[in-house]
Amino acid sequence: MKKILITGGAGFIGSHVVRLFVNKYPDYQIYNLDKLTYAGNLFNLKDIESKPNYHFIKADIVDSAAMLSLFEKHQFDGVIHLAAESHVDRSIANPMEFVMTNVIGTVNLLNAARHQWKDAMEGKRFYHISTDEVYGSLGDTGFFYEDTAYDPHSPYSASKASSDHFVRAYHDTFGLPVVISNCSNNYGPNQFPEKLIPLFINNIRHNKPLPVYGKGENVRDWLFVVDHARAIDVIYHQGGNGETYNIGGHNEWKNIDLIKVMCRIMDEKLGRTAGTSEQLITYVKDRAGHDLRYAIDSGKLQKELGWVPSLQFEEGIRLTIEWYLSNQEWLDTVTSGNYLKYYEEQYVIR
Ligand code: NAD
Ligand code: DAU
Repeated sequence: MKKILITGGAGFIGSHVVRLFVNKYPDYQIYNLDKLTYAGNLFNLKDIESKPNYHFIKADIVDSAAMLSLFEKHQFDGVIHLAAESHVDRSIANPMEFVMTNVIGTVNLLNAARHQWKDAMEGKRFYHISTDEVYGSLGDTGFFYEDTAYDPHSPYSASKASSDHFVRAYHDTFGLPVVISNCSNNYGPNQFPEKLIPLFINNIRHNKPLPVYGKGENVRDWLFVVDHARAIDVIYHQGGNGETYNIGGHNEWKNIDLIKVMCRIMDEKLGRTAGTSEQLITYVKDRAGHDLRYAIDSGKLQKELGWVPSLQFEEGIRLTIEWYLSNQEWLDTVTSGNYLKYYEEQYVIR
């Protein structure tokens, strides 16, 4: 029997990873540790919360004593670490929170794992979930590879780069059995509507302006969240000790082109005349330090571990839009309260 700690399991990607592991591995005990910040929502896991192999722990990874005693109490065999502050715009408004959670929180978990596993590292695994943003920005051509030099530009990506360095340092210095993956932009159900795709779906639904940063020419490589969760499963079980794997969809979109596709599908789904939603597009001041283009080469993961994305983008974006339209209660709940204040500060004052 394996005891696996998944941090950030109430968030967007974490909830898909928890679901996959709880359902696929009934012999594992899955512990979801989450602080339940604005981005964490236990409603995301309603369908599996009463399964006997699922456990929830409300805790803050910044609390080093709490992390040490949790590891002591549960004797985890593995960690899949997703808990993080994850939104670039919030990192520009408040960098320190990103340092605390993403850097200090990660080091606290590394210390707790090292302490618990000091006499027996065999069969243990600390899996750190990271981002392609650590590699910086590409020009019109080329890809990020696992050995691309780090060049982060936002406080968010700098904090993720720093945590990646600590994970590798604990492997090289203390022999901690680690693995890291760096993934491109995820989309799909349960993503908090501060990120481009769910924000724009919600705004189109309410006939609100669609705030496109700069000229909308920045390029992102989009991957359906369930395919990321599948990659995490494969890497957790088969990835090499100390190795890094890039995960991406080979699915690059200029923001403005992606937004137009969303407008077209939303017009169709909402029974609006073609072209109606596009009129909501509003060009606003660019994001500071805005990276031009991300594109991942996931050849290593595909060749060595046999993972490939399962969904074509046109299918994935339709599924995603349908999910948000048929889960209006979820969307209404997460866009009330503090969200309104965030929205006001991020978009109305700009
Ligand atoms: P998210 O913001 O949706 O979820 C983060 C979760 O972490 C939330 O449930 C939150 O409550 C929890 N959390 C935050 N601070 C915490 C703390 N101090 N202690 C305990 N829990 C805390 O994020 P996401 O988009 O699901 O991203 C998950 C991970 O994947 C992050 O590490 C992120 O850097 C990485 N990642 C995200 C993407 C993406 O496109 N979203 C792509 C690549 C990598
Ligand atoms: O690449 C992986 C990263 O992808 C993850 O590590 C991050 O956690 C995740 O948030 C995401 O970062 P981005 O900054 O790329 O995602 P976001 O959805 O915020 O923005 C996508 C693009 O859309 C980006 O070029 C900025 C633009 N944008 C975003 C918002 C929120 C707009 O034009 N308007 C907006 O209102």
